[in-house]
Amino acid sequence: MEAANAAAKLLDLERSTTFSAGEMEVVDWHSFDSLYFYNPFAAILFGEAPFAKAVRWSMLTDQIARTEAHLADLSVGTRVVTYEGFGGDMPDGYLLTHAEMIDDRRLALWVKQRSTRGVRPKPTDPF
Ligand SMILES: C[S@@+](CC[C@H](N)C(=O)[O-])C[C@H]1O[C@@H](n2cnc3c(N)ncnc32)[C@H](O)[C@@H]1O
Repeated sequence: MEAANAAAKLLDLERSTTFSAGEMEVVDWHSFDSLYFYNPFAAILFGEAPFAKAVRWSMLTDQIARTEAHLADLSVGTRVVTYEGFGGDMPDGYLLTHAEMIDDRRLALWVKQRSTRGVRPKPTDPF
């Protein structure tokens, strides 16, 4: 938080930025028009976090699935920037409008074009 506030001051963005730290599940995703993800869940697999190896994969897939569901529920026009992705797929309705490589990793801008709220998932092929 200290570093973020110092950076905002340096860039003269103090009036247009606020920072808070917390779990993504307690944030109202609809209160943002833009979101940024920098490979957020890698630490679950590779970090020092105190979870047993056996649960890391299920924690990772759970976080990715929650993120995909939140993204699918956001309003048309929402911008999402990813750097190295977030481990999942951008839901239907997002258009990749810009991408460039930085240090061999992809920085991408996605813009939500149409709402997928209430759209039922296609039935899965049993075969
Ligand atoms: C690779 S770091 C990015 C660091 C920094 N934001 C940047 O852009 O340079 C990934 C970030 O995702 C955050 N993160 C991971 N899981 C999260 C969750 N469930 N809720 C909120 N933040 C999370 C981590 O705390 C970490 O700050």
